[in-house]
Amino acid sequence: MPEHHPSHGTPEYVSALPTARPHIHETRKFPEGFLWGTATSSHQVEGGNGKNDWHDWEMIPGHIVDGQPSGAACDQYHRYEQDFDLAAGFHQNAHRLSIEWSRIEPEDGRWDMDEVMHYRRVLEALKRRNMKVMLTVWHFTLPGWLAAKGGWEWRGAVGRFRRFAGFVAGEYSDLVDLWCTINEPMVYLGQSYQSGVWPPGVKSNWRAFRVFGALCRAHRAAYGAIHKAVDRQGRRAQVGIAQNVITFEPYRKHSLNDILFVWFADKIFNHQFFIWTKGQHDYIGINYYFHYRIKYIPSKIFQVFFEVHTENRETSDVGWELNPQGIFEALLDMNRYRRPIYITENGLANADDGKRPRILIATLKEVYHAIRAGADVRGYFHWSLLDNYEWERGFAARFGLIAVDYATQKRTPRRSAHVYADICKANGIPHTLLRFLGHGVRW
Ligand code: FCB
Repeated sequence: MPEHHPSHGTPEYVSALPTARPHIHETRKFPEGFLWGTATSSHQVEGGNGKNDWHDWEMIPGHIVDGQPSGAACDQYHRYEQDFDLAAGFHQNAHRLSIEWSRIEPEDGRWDMDEVMHYRRVLEALKRRNMKVMLTVWHFTLPGWLAAKGGWEWRGAVGRFRRFAGFVAGEYSDLVDLWCTINEPMVYLGQSYQSGVWPPGVKSNWRAFRVFGALCRAHRAAYGAIHKAVDRQGRRAQVGIAQNVITFEPYRKHSLNDILFVWFADKIFNHQFFIWTKGQHDYIGINYYFHYRIKYIPSKIFQVFFEVHTENRETSDVGWELNPQGIFEALLDMNRYRRPIYITENGLANADDGKRPRILIATLKEVYHAIRAGADVRGYFHWSLLDNYEWERGFAARFGLIAVDYATQKRTPRRSAHVYADICKANGIPHTLLRFLGHGVRW
């Protein structure tokens, strides 16, 4: 063994190693015009939403893990200017948000024009900051009057959604760049109609299946209505959905059962909605949070969600496995639809921000490689701009690049807000950030 002391320069065994490929210092650039933003939804950030099904649900003890109703949430209804200043100040050039159906149509067929004007001001505030806007028409919350008629199980629901989508498209066609009809149809079915932890709290695969059909019809109806309303004003609409895409892996790689279940789960969860709404997506929106290792257990064969294992895996504060590599696979798989792809959500609950910067950089590195491998990715929206109301978990899960103190409504950017800002500003991943992963070498 050659003697080595730190002060003696390069040890002999290092010079004997094969030469590393050149270390590159350039920023890993994303395509010109790439959208860099964050995503939110009305009920989770606005506060003061008293007319939707979630409001009633939150009031019932036991429904919300930390026992808290959404109440004033982040009070973004009043603080949007300040929040958009933060987003624009951190070099974000796009924003995804949703409108609250129960505000715009508080009663069946009655439009509240003050609320319509409110959202116009919100959207204009984004435009003044030169930001592209993705507007979600429906993000999980139904107006109370519609829920009372049976929600998506009511025969008239699709028609009402068509009318609502057409109306808002007519109102905001000059301010919206990308329309997202429905957020995560499959997650909604799972939470609202299978596990029953969201309103209306149903546990029935059959009813879930029927609502699946209604949501497919709702998307098709809204797709047509938005195009019609926007075309009429001489503009072109880009319409799609945000689909929660899960990367599934067999827990035992040689188990035929595990492999078959993975095939089935992937088909149903990730693709069936696109199959039933074929031809009605101008872009593909994907929300990426989950990697599941599926283990088939004969006694649980009738569960739609099988045994999932995350043993010894790194997870977020809410126990979701962190698997940045999965997004590469998801993007290339979704590229099969031959449409532009937007990452409409991605992020993690991590209150102390100890993991978020690294996971964010690692995820975007995978996105970069997916683009290099041919995926037509046009934008990335991090979930979320700021901490907000995380549905049945209440305020406990902290997904924000910016922390919120709910007692004072004070916003405090986390480290990751600055990391993301450097990426947005550079339209790519600067070498200094990649070094942080230990991946500064091209191989
Ligand atoms: C997604 C939802 C979004 C938020 C994140 C954490 O499934 O679309 O509203 O709750 O998860």
